[in-house]
Amino acid sequence: MLERCDVLARCSEEPGRLTRRFASPALAEARELVAGWMREAGLEPRHDAVGNLVGRRDGPGRTLLLGSHLDTVRDAGRYDGPLGVLVALAAADRVRDRPLPFALEVAAFADEEGVRYGTAYLGSAVLAGRFEAAWLERRDADGVTMADAIRGWGGDPGAVAGPRRDDLLGYCEVHIEQGPVLDDAELPVAVVEAIAGQTRARATFTGTAAHAGTTPMEARRDALAAAAEWIGAVEAAGRGTAGLVATVGELAVEPGAANVVPGRVVASVDVRHADDAAREAAVRALRERALAAGAARGVEAGWEELQANPAVPCDPALTDRLADVAAAVTGAAVPRLASGAGHDAVMLSAVAPVAMLFVRCDGGVSHHPAEAVRAEDVAVALDVTTRLLEELAA
Ligand code: HGY
Ligand code: MN
Ligand code: MN
Repeated sequence: MLERCDVLARCSEEPGRLTRRFASPALAEARELVAGWMREAGLEPRHDAVGNLVGRRDGPGRTLLLGSHLDTVRDAGRYDGPLGVLVALAAADRVRDRPLPFALEVAAFADEEGVRYGTAYLGSAVLAGRFEAAWLERRDADGVTMADAIRGWGGDPGAVAGPRRDDLLGYCEVHIEQGPVLDDAELPVAVVEAIAGQTRARATFTGTAAHAGTTPMEARRDALAAAAEWIGAVEAAGRGTAGLVATVGELAVEPGAANVVPGRVVASVDVRHADDAAREAAVRALRERALAAGAARGVEAGWEELQANPAVPCDPALTDRLADVAAAVTGAAVPRLASGAGHDAVMLSAVAPVAMLFVRCDGGVSHHPAEAVRAEDVAVALDVTTRLLEELAA
């Protein structure tokens, strides 16, 4: 599994670092490798309309879905996503000769991170029947529409906003913790109680580009100065509100020359909280702050909400079973953690009971090339997943 994570880490859009966005040639390359491994594990791989790769083992009745995502952030670690796909695949391989009273599928979702189009969970949204047709007109940084990107890698934009899956017995995802709790506690795995809600928005500041040398300060409509004040307010909101995290991760400055007062700035914002009302209040406040920072400088502030996903509790019964299995396998405590990171389980919770197994990652580091896991913890995750399948089959 770790060797396969290393092989997949070579499928990148950028030399020298790992970036694998939705519908990119790098993701298509990774998808083909995983499809081959699915065949080796006795699964029948297929692509769905958006380009998710799903390996299926037919069986009676409903389908138990395992898996995670195959896309990455920019300059990513190699385990966020792929580890969950590969542990699921290895578990399917381990039970391949065991009769199961359900069908089994392993999903390698095509876009959980949302780096290319700003909307997280594009892949799993299709299975949940929650893909919004309006997303198809979204354009990436190169002006390519999502519809064209989907067509470009063999998908069918006309079929992505299709019916939800109604045959799922449950969804179980293995994922690195992306936090320090397990590393600090010196424990291999945890289960997830709930996943924080998340709002993604875009703030646009439109002023006037001007000569940096001859334009008096009081005569400027400096878009970047307005954005900078607002970005400080985003950080202050996160620091000042219990349980809130707020991040500006992308900033585009035009025209982007040292001797030109910036005329236009576009900034992303990512706001999360376990409580939806608190998150929504914070988003409203940050929108107001953007308008005020612009108004103070004669800069027009625009606000576009790209996506909002509510906090999602994992299914108590399935999570209890997963925790019991993990305790039996490890003989150790199995913490129950809240996830500040989003996961495909958020989308799938609309159509199935969901449970997640977190795997310790060194220092909690993630969304960074230093992301690292221990082989013995990955082995535990595989034993837990396999034992869960056996228990559900009993
Ligand atoms: O952003 C997240 O929480 C996840 O990595 N998509
Ligand atoms: Mn992830
Ligand atoms: Mn991630």
